[in-house]
Amino acid sequence: MRILVTGAGGMLGSEIAEQLSGSHEVLAHDRNVGDLRDRAQVEPLLDGVDAVVHAAALPSPLSAAEPVVFGNNVDVTFHLLDAAGRAGVKRIVYVSSLSALGLAWSSRPVSPLFAPVTEGHPYVGDDVYGLSKLVGEFIGETVSRRWGSEVISLRFPFIGSGDRLQRQLDHVRGDPGADRASLWSWIDTRDAVRAVIAALTSPVEGYALVNVAAPDTTSPVPTAELMRRFHPTTRLDGPLDGFAVPFSLELSQDLLGFTAVHQWRPTIGGT
Ligand SMILES: NC(=O)c1ccc[n+]([C@@H]2O[C@H](COP(=O)([O-])OP(=O)(O)OC[C@H]3O[C@@H](n4cnc5c(N)ncnc54)[C@H](O)[C@@H]3O)[C@@H](O)[C@H]2O)c1
Repeated sequence: MRILVTGAGGMLGSEIAEQLSGSHEVLAHDRNVGDLRDRAQVEPLLDGVDAVVHAAALPSPLSAAEPVVFGNNVDVTFHLLDAAGRAGVKRIVYVSSLSALGLAWSSRPVSPLFAPVTEGHPYVGDDVYGLSKLVGEFIGETVSRRWGSEVISLRFPFIGSGDRLQRQLDHVRGDPGADRASLWSWIDTRDAVRAVIAALTSPVEGYALVNVAAPDTTSPVPTAELMRRFHPTTRLDGPLDGFAVPFSLELSQDLLGFTAVHQWRPTIGGT
């Protein structure tokens, strides 16, 4: 396949482009090639492209002034996905975020209504980044309906490996409450790349929105206890055994055939 990867100079996009380049023709795009807010620069990128992986974004509400974060993320996603749909690109993988729920960056101490949190959980946010990722998902759904592309939005948690992951683990170990808003979710960068690759070929009609995360949390405290302490109003729809992440991962298993394999937690008999 000829695959356009946006954000390919960034943390996640660079790994995606490198992994895909082993077996596909990859067009790696970042700001050095052009600005995706400029439609005239976007359209020529899609010539002969079979699939798009859209990872370009300002990845937090703190990345720039709030109107810039919102405007950049929505503009690039609209121009890229709409142009891809019009150009007849068959498959689009949109790198979204669990922040699209509104929990992670909310200015208020908000709790999920229920857990495990499914893809159907209502939006409860008030921040520009989460809103920009949510609008991006709607753009993906709209493009699938209007142009017939197969579009998958993957909602990722904190993504990291190595030192970046270790800093996050230390942060949570020091103060479990500090990550209450993200529900202690995470995924190893290598697994995030595997999920994107699975989404490029999984059988999807129209549009799909999928949670993707490691099956456990970043915390040494059992999840049921974390939820009792930090989200006492959340209705528990499942047992949340052990250190289970309080997001539903059923769809990522069923639709993508994906399960994260990289772990930080020592397992009995594990490596
Ligand atoms: N970092 C995380 O923990 C995390 C978690 C969940 C989802 N995500 C999502 O994953 C994706 C990648 O995040 P990342 O952490 O690798 O970010 P990053 O900042 O390392 O990479 C993003 C890249 O997008 C490019 N970009 C942004 N706006 C652009 C524009 N207008 N034109 C061209 N290129 C542009 C940037 O130059 C940058 O290289 C983002 O969509 C982000 O929302 C990240």
